[in-house]
Amino acid sequence: MRTLIKNIKELVGVETSPKLRKQGKEMALLETIKDAYLLVEDGNIKTFGPMSEWNGTADNVEDAAGRMVMPTFCDSHTHIVYANSREHEFVDKIRGLSYEEIAKRGGGILNSAKATAAASEDELYDMAQQRLEEVMRLGTGAIEIKSGYGLSTESELKLLRVIRRLKETSPMTIKSNFLGAHGIPMEYRGHQEDYVDLVINEMIPRVAAEGLADFIDVFCDQGFFTVDDTARILEAGIKYGMRPKIHANEMAISGGVQVGVKYNAISVDHLEQMGDAEIECLKGTYTMPTILPGCAFFLNLPLSPARRMIEAGLPVAMASDYNPGTSPSGNMQLILSMACIRYRLTPEEAINATTLNTAYAMSVSNEVGSIAVGKKANFYITKPIASYEYMPYAYGENKVERVFLNGKEV
Ligand code: NIG
Ligand code: FE
Repeated sequence: MRTLIKNIKELVGVETSPKLRKQGKEMALLETIKDAYLLVEDGNIKTFGPMSEWNGTADNVEDAAGRMVMPTFCDSHTHIVYANSREHEFVDKIRGLSYEEIAKRGGGILNSAKATAAASEDELYDMAQQRLEEVMRLGTGAIEIKSGYGLSTESELKLLRVIRRLKETSPMTIKSNFLGAHGIPMEYRGHQEDYVDLVINEMIPRVAAEGLADFIDVFCDQGFFTVDDTARILEAGIKYGMRPKIHANEMAISGGVQVGVKYNAISVDHLEQMGDAEIECLKGTYTMPTILPGCAFFLNLPLSPARRMIEAGLPVAMASDYNPGTSPSGNMQLILSMACIRYRLTPEEAINATTLNTAYAMSVSNEVGSIAVGKKANFYITKPIASYEYMPYAYGENKVERVFLNGKEV
């Protein structure tokens, strides 16, 4: 089955020699072809080029006149399996309470965990499926989903089974991340090492026995899990083949970046608090620094020093952090805009940060994240727009008209 997309005003995010990620100055490089065609065969990208060079046949032809074709977003950090929204805490924050204060009194993650524990697997699946559908229509083609609103063995397994069902039923590329160490349940306050023991001795082996997690995560931050807790949990996960991918430096310079790098994390995420030592420590590593602009926006946190990181030669990825407490939106078009507006990335850097580099941060940049021969045909056709710079510029507007995953319109 061959599908031709013809008359593309500009085909964006092309790679003639594909890379697994882009770092430093490379982040500004974004190949495009004006007046282009794209040929899909059996779900993968077969070839592309200028319209003037097209001569062939296809079973199905789509006309993209006046429109951009771009690789779908990869969202490498989300928590979309949860039961309840948390707008009451949102109002508490407006009135002056901090995220940490709310967490301390048993709100926040524990609030979500309570409602999520009470929901059935089917209910959680239906809610998460709707969220997935919504972000797919906005142009996301690959997504990482964490557990972490369970915080008991049975409840964490329930969340991970929901993610497994989403993998089986969605056309999106999905990776699962076991985040048992997301919050400290009330009954473990004052002796959190016992909860860490539970994660290590009971949860990880059971998660592994059912093959439920691609990655392992820890919320390594002030008021949550310590560097020592994190190291113990990562070591246990690694033994079962789960690659670390962790939360670090949201509230404070926590040592999270260093412990992530030490255990060869595929990514360290948040990074609102970054010193020179953290930037230095990421140099020459396989770890993708991942910024979550929606969380910093929603909580009014300091902005991660994206430009400094790029100037230091590092790669930077940007993901949504879609979750009920700190970023109740998975709209990657908005993340693309924030990348430019708030973090001063150029449109080219911002596109790389939300496609190829986030694909790397979830270990799928060999199959998605750009328009390259042999990769999955995951792309969107925009509404009629004048240039790709319009994508980040017109924030708040949905610029995506049609989404194709594995070569099929969804
Ligand atoms: O990535 N920082 C930790 N976890 C989530 C927030 C979870 C919540 O508040 O429900 C985050 O921001
Ligand atoms: Fe998160």
